[in-house]
Amino acid sequence: MAERARVAILISGRGSNMAALIYAARADDCPFEIALVTGDKPDAPGLSLAEAEGIDALRMDAKKVGASYWNELQNALDAAAIDTIALAGFMRIIPAEFVARWTGRMVNIHPSLLPDHRGLNTHESVLAAGDRVTGATVHIVSEAVDSGAILGQVSVAVLPGDTADTLATRVLIAEHQLYPRILSQFVARERDPEWIVAKVGTLALALPEARFKTSHGAPGWKVGSPSNDKFFAIMWLRHHGEESVAVLVKCGGQDEMAALIEADPALYFRPAYYGPSDWIGIRLDRPGVDWDHVAEWLQRSWSLCAPPRLTKLLRVADAF
Ligand code: GRF
Repeated sequence: MAERARVAILISGRGSNMAALIYAARADDCPFEIALVTGDKPDAPGLSLAEAEGIDALRMDAKKVGASYWNELQNALDAAAIDTIALAGFMRIIPAEFVARWTGRMVNIHPSLLPDHRGLNTHESVLAAGDRVTGATVHIVSEAVDSGAILGQVSVAVLPGDTADTLATRVLIAEHQLYPRILSQFVARERDPEWIVAKVGTLALALPEARFKTSHGAPGWKVGSPSNDKFFAIMWLRHHGEESVAVLVKCGGQDEMAALIEADPALYFRPAYYGPSDWIGIRLDRPGVDWDHVAEWLQRSWSLCAPPRLTKLLRVADAF
């Protein structure tokens, strides 16, 4: 099976959602592995469970560490080569800078049907509102609390006579089903060729006079006027014995290509047929793709293929 996404779980308490994710990751076909559990409270009970299950658990103390806590956390995530963060009862407001650093790669579970009942005391708020149905939501973490894009939800009936505790217990059962399923879909989506093509397309079409065109049936992007245009990016969708989903871009020549492949053979390859004309393959169906790096490659390839009138314009713009 393909490389699994490396997930870090952040907790502040008992960690029952953490446990659900750990046990889901034991399945052979689970697309993620739990590479780290940590949080802001060194005595969070969930950390002991993670340890007992043989997961790396880091006892961080946000209170003690103070201002450098977020940097230390980032260092721990880097050291464990984490692709995705899953918050599971992590009770700390996350600074905007940290959220920005993990844009689109940090998810959370909240015990209501968002956008209803954001924030704390969710079940009390559901009961006070007289709702007949509540539930749980997994969402992307954005700067505003409990407001990022919704990835999945499950509904749970509110029973007559429910208290905040009875409701919490039942919603928690639903949470444990929902979180592993949605996290699996979320990390797997980044390996889905359709998703990858759409992502490359967004970056490619952001460049001047770029347009979509197929090349021998594969999605590609050209630059220039319709009568005089050139491909600057072509998708490689598991062609010619090369299993990867990749984008082909123009590089500076055969020597550069050989050096790049030698330096990072998991990322780069020399595509059949295209390689001799300086197209290099960049694999995209792997966890933790650096999309800024892909955007830089697209821009470079665009510059090598665009007509002089466009590259001149860009150089003038760069000078300012
Ligand atoms: C869960 O209800 C979760 O939705 C919320 O905090 C609670 C954490 O519980 N964000 P646990 O620590 O996972 O048991």
